[in-house]
Amino acid sequence: MRKPAPTDRPIHPLLAERWSPYAFTGEDVDEADLLALFEAARWAASSYNAQPWRFILARRREPGAFERALSCLVPFNQSWARHAPVLALGLVHGGSAAGGSPIPVAAHDLGLAAASLTVEATHRGLAVHQMSGIAADRIRGAYALPEDVLPVTALAIGYAAAPEATPEEWRERQVRPRERRRLAELVFEERWGEPAAFLAGEPED
Ligand SMILES: Cc1cc2nc3c(=O)[nH]c(=O)nc-3n(C[C@H](O)[C@H](O)[C@H](O)COP(=O)(O)O)c2cc1C
Repeated sequence: MRKPAPTDRPIHPLLAERWSPYAFTGEDVDEADLLALFEAARWAASSYNAQPWRFILARRREPGAFERALSCLVPFNQSWARHAPVLALGLVHGGSAAGGSPIPVAAHDLGLAAASLTVEATHRGLAVHQMSGIAADRIRGAYALPEDVLPVTALAIGYAAAPEATPEEWRERQVRPRERRRLAELVFEERWGEPAAFLAGEPED
């Protein structure tokens, strides 16, 4: 299933096509595709090239490992993500090339890596649904994390199910329109909260 963003002006199709499904087909993800996704993440930019992101992978075809990762999500996310063929936990490593406190920028860098992974996934017809609803303490225990490693997100990866193949419980979320704030709420220039001049004439809604 596709759910392209109704953008106000053309953007790269890979960016418009990316979305976060709540239901996946039963199809597994090829090893080659999976490798490419993490290779894309690997080549993301990062502060001081510290590459602080780490991922813990779990595939549904390995039930023990999959249940362990799934149990590290909040119950709401478990209920839909259990049908994804692949789960990944996103973590940041606290080490920093420059010393100092790395966590805020490390989480930012993990986001960049996740964005690259997601674009590569979209290119391959896959969809990624990221989650902040994780049980960080559970992850810490389940994977015996070192103290300077911080769980941040999880990602469900697979092929988006068509509406008619989506369980009733998730259908509304699967098909609901994609919405965004207007650019005028996001891009300022002279003063905080005032739309940048180049936005004059943008669509009001
Ligand atoms: C960092 C991050 C955390 C998110 N956490 C959750 C989550 O815990 N549960 C969930 O159902 N969706 C989660 N989402 C998905 C967002 O709700 C979704 O990206 C947003 O509604 C926009 O929809 P779209 O990705 O289809 O454009 C998360 C997305 C991101 C990027």
